Amino acid sequence: MHGARDEATFNAASIAGRADRLLPDFRRAIESVPRERGFKGIGSRGMFFFYAAVRPFGPKQILESGRMRGESTLMLARCFPQARIVSVEFDLEPTHAAMAEAKLRPYANVELLYGDSREILPQRLQAGDAVLIDGPKEFRALKLALQLLATGKPCAVLIHDFYRGQPGRTFVERHWTGAFFSDDPALAARFRELGSQIDPAYDPDSKHTTSPFVCLPSGLPASYSILLIKIIWARAVSIVVSKIGKFLPHTLSGKVSDPEG
Ligand SMILES: C[S@@+](CC[C@H](N)C(=O)[O-])C[C@H]1O[C@@H](n2cnc3c(N)ncnc32)[C@H](O)[C@@H]1O
Repeated sequence: MHGARDEATFNAASIAGRADRLLPDFRRAIESVPRERGFKGIGSRGMFFFYAAVRPFGPKQILESGRMRGESTLMLARCFPQARIVSVEFDLEPTHAAMAEAKLRPYANVELLYGDSREILPQRLQAGDAVLIDGPKEFRALKLALQLLATGKPCAVLIHDFYRGQPGRTFVERHWTGAFFSDDPALAARFRELGSQIDPAYDPDSKHTTSPFVCLPSGLPASYSILLIKIIWARAVSIVVSKIGKFLPHTLSGKVSDPEG
């Protein structure tokens, strides 16, 4: 077991450094898991990143927001058998819900809840929890992370699909000291090297990149209210900019094609 607390550091270098040591445990945990073909969730390589990031903290509970068909939840259940997995899904779509419930029925450590994680997770949060957010996305996910981290309880919060150039990511890069991303070049290179040991179908030379996580350490880089105001403002600006971006091409093309000049 590699759960020594002195290994429980949360930054790009330490996660890259411990990844190959943690890989055999992860592979053993997921080796007999039947995978859904063609389903685009976090995937086994993304889940290995989450595992390498939070495993040394030995969380007693993991909160998941956004489970859909339960692929990521299943990997959490198997990779953290000693932890309680509380998974919240907003969508009651019956096919997905039934698939997730069938998959997770054998796992006594999993609790499947339905509703808005922004309401449910703050009530379920315990000291030392690790948090995985895969829906909501972007600023809404960031606001949820902020709310949870402000309590001082989580050991870490990871949000999936935080792509370069997106407004939410630019916000974190500017305002969230201590945050880092799984596509940090050194970290991504390390996980690319290990990728084919996790997923034999993985092509390390593929141009298709893995969806990045933003990794938020425990605590906040500024006061809750300052960060909240900045998030609300940045989101409003990004909405206005995107509306102008959609409106301008129409206006310009309207002018060009106007036969009356
Ligand atoms: C990409 S899917 C999750 C896939 C899953 N994590 C996996 O890797 O197998 C995102 C899910 O987040 C859910 N979601 C979005 N906002 C949510 C919210 N506020 N609370 C709970 N679930 C939410 C969506 O309904 C959707 O099913």
